[in-house]
Amino acid sequence: SNPQSGANTPAGSPVLPDAAPEPQEPAVIRRADYAPYPWRVPAIRLDFDLGLETTRVEATLTVEPNLDADAAEDIRLDGDGLVLESVHVDGEERTDWRRDGEALIVPLSSGKHTLTIVTRILPSENTQLMGLYASNGMLCTQCEAEGFRRITFFPDRPDVLSVYTVRMEADREAFPVLLSNGNPVEEGLLDGGRHFAEWHDPWPKPSYLFALVAGDLVARTDSFTTMGGREVALGVWVREEDLPRTSHAMESIKRSMNWDEETFGREYDLDRFNIVAVGDFNMGAMENKGLNIFNTKYVLADQETATDADFDAVEGVIGHEYFHNWSGNRITCRDWFQLSLKEGFTVLRDQLFSEDMHGAAVKRIGDVRVLRSVQFPEDSGPFAHPIRPDSYKEISNFYTATVYNKGAEVIRMMRSMAGIEAFRKGSDLYFDRHDGEAATCEDFVKAMEDGAGLDLTQFRRWYEQAGTPQVTAEQRHDGDTVTLVLKQVVPPTPGQPDKAPVPIPLRIALFDREKGEHAGEQLIVLTEAEQEFTFEGFAKPPILSINRGYTAPIALDRDISREDLVFLAAHDDDSFARHEAMQELLLGYLLGDADDEARAAIGTAAQAVLADDALDNEMRAELLTLPPFAYLGERSKIYDPGAMVEKREGLRAWLGHEFAGQFRDYHERLTNLAREEGAQGKQARRMRSLALGYIAAADEAEGARLGLAQYRAAAGMTERQGALAVLAGLDGTEREEALADFYARFADNPLVVDKWFTLQAMALRPNVLDEVGKLAGHEAFTISNPNRVRSLYGAMSGNPVAFHQESGAGYRMIADLILELNMRNPQLAARFVPSLGRWRRVEPGRSAMMRAELERIAAAGTLSRDVAEQVEASLG
Ligand code: PHE
Ligand code: ZN
Repeated sequence: SNPQSGANTPAGSPVLPDAAPEPQEPAVIRRADYAPYPWRVPAIRLDFDLGLETTRVEATLTVEPNLDADAAEDIRLDGDGLVLESVHVDGEERTDWRRDGEALIVPLSSGKHTLTIVTRILPSENTQLMGLYASNGMLCTQCEAEGFRRITFFPDRPDVLSVYTVRMEADREAFPVLLSNGNPVEEGLLDGGRHFAEWHDPWPKPSYLFALVAGDLVARTDSFTTMGGREVALGVWVREEDLPRTSHAMESIKRSMNWDEETFGREYDLDRFNIVAVGDFNMGAMENKGLNIFNTKYVLADQETATDADFDAVEGVIGHEYFHNWSGNRITCRDWFQLSLKEGFTVLRDQLFSEDMHGAAVKRIGDVRVLRSVQFPEDSGPFAHPIRPDSYKEISNFYTATVYNKGAEVIRMMRSMAGIEAFRKGSDLYFDRHDGEAATCEDFVKAMEDGAGLDLTQFRRWYEQAGTPQVTAEQRHDGDTVTLVLKQVVPPTPGQPDKAPVPIPLRIALFDREKGEHAGEQLIVLTEAEQEFTFEGFAKPPILSINRGYTAPIALDRDISREDLVFLAAHDDDSFARHEAMQELLLGYLLGDADDEARAAIGTAAQAVLADDALDNEMRAELLTLPPFAYLGERSKIYDPGAMVEKREGLRAWLGHEFAGQFRDYHERLTNLAREEGAQGKQARRMRSLALGYIAAADEAEGARLGLAQYRAAAGMTERQGALAVLAGLDGTEREEALADFYARFADNPLVVDKWFTLQAMALRPNVLDEVGKLAGHEAFTISNPNRVRSLYGAMSGNPVAFHQESGAGYRMIADLILELNMRNPQLAARFVPSLGRWRRVEPGRSAMMRAELERIAAAGTLSRDVAEQVEASLG
């Protein structure tokens, strides 16, 4: 037996996994400490004997010294919760291995070896949904970031690339379908009702891209011929009852493949591309090589059960995962600090894809809305980090809006500065230069410099510094000359007290006050803390339209009159800038004193928008959408959620009242168009439900009546959910009738039941928190499904009336949830901490209660690394 190991014996009887290791301060991992792994693992063979209760894994690794690294006499392999059965080296059983915590260390002489390790895992006990786990009777894997170590002992780090051969053996009735990465090579029947399949992936990949699926699934199939003439067999794998909802996913795959060829010159590289939909999934989806695994939410869609927004999200996420095949898989990350290398770039790619599919204007407005209501609060809060972090304790905590969305904005700025063609040269060079490698963000920046012809010396600060740059813009006018004075400050963030200026590309236009037009836009780049730009030929001070298209992810304060904002909100030819002017009017009112003049200016702009025939109805609805609470909270120095709800919803009622006739007219006039497919139908549905919201805000009875009518006559989920969202915020029988009908109609569809929970938890009603409490006891609620947890508590934590309820009961509810999920699903638990972490920015009474809940969590005993890191940062 082995002296170093308590519960694990090297040979013979399988035993339980090691008891949880002694609680100890989790180590801080630092970017500066990167060192290459001493061994290479050019090939791995995995033999699975699959079962829901227990699965046996035999891993055969070919290892050899890494000549680029320091030599090592032992090989150290990561593990997590594994039962070790045996270790063989070059065919001989070894007992001289040792354990260091969860890791396995095997003494090894230099040279090439074959290492065979047998482990046993327990999929149905895997509640973390990392590694191999069971979902609805099927088996599937999730390995990013560090889940592969829960399947077998392995150097579970992204810079170790191996060619995988996978053989799966299982009961044929329970698991008729056996899928893994790459291409199928062999399958066959075995004795005892069993069968097997073998897959081979020719492309070397890191362990986080490994995947396996076994289950009773059916596929929608199709094919795609690549630009090089390769025919790719496509499959969307789902449970049989979901098959009718897979056509949109399949079309989205083909559009993605085509777009990546046309836009980035990227061709698919295997004979197969499979997507599997899984009901229990921590994230949106995962880009495993040739076998993407998806949350059902981002695969299944039909008119009856999915909204227009759901359809677009499916297409966007399918694009995202597909695009990872090049930005992530062919070129992967050297270490997890480089996460934005693949995620920032791939988010940008999926955003551009969606812009091309449906128009850039509305997509850009939506993406910026997300950035400002999710990433800005992160960047100004206790967990602020650069898009390339310097340290972490638990990498799962860094799958953030900063790494993803700000990361995308940073690369978008390079694109704006280079121009589309030069940017393409940069991306071509990047793909060419680093194909097959585990690369760094620096590699990407260098390729952009060399390929696109940019000097990114100062620009690299965007990778180093956290915090949203605060820019102010002022205008001076003298004779014919306009001077634009721009100043920037990058605010201090935890661990980064002093910041340097960053290059900020700003697309601007100067509107001639007389003509109401501008003479063309231009791109200026603010590089200094303070800088002046002059423009000639303006007899009168022009109206400044700045950061058009949102070229830079900054917070901007411009010196501009209300009248000029009204002008831009009515006339700016850049859709984003027009929307921005409207938002500035709204923010000015909502963040300032309740001011009749400010409100009247909003009315003037809204009137122009309602009367503008040149606008499409989706853009019209965007322009009339009030800023989200999260962004209002972010922009408030000290946030008083109660007061903000009153003010914002008061403004909605005022607008609804002022324009009652027009909103009713739109609601009625668009009834038929809203039943149609295609872009105009979608635009009509958007405007119709927005109008309904304003009608209800001004006149509850009328809103209830029209809402129920819209609900009953709905031809699809967009109209139905749009009506129910409004009804759920009202009182009365219409609300009860519609909610009961909705549940009865869709009780057997989990994704729609999620909507039912969400709509109720989002309602801005005084007693919403009691409702949420009751819903937590509903027959359909379960803590073990992440979508369901998010549908109720994710919605609740974003609802200021519920979360910020004056008694503090909302904070307590979220803290209780975090504690309940802490060990069962640490990743999911940790996602709820930042809402409490905002305590410093909330008015004193609530602030103290939020902090107290964080302290209660901190004191609660054994915390997962995920929750501990978040809570520490929040209190720190
Ligand atoms: N890499 C996935 C994506 O962005 C996200 C993910 C991370 C999924 C970790 C699961 C676990 O597409
Ligand atoms: Zn991604």
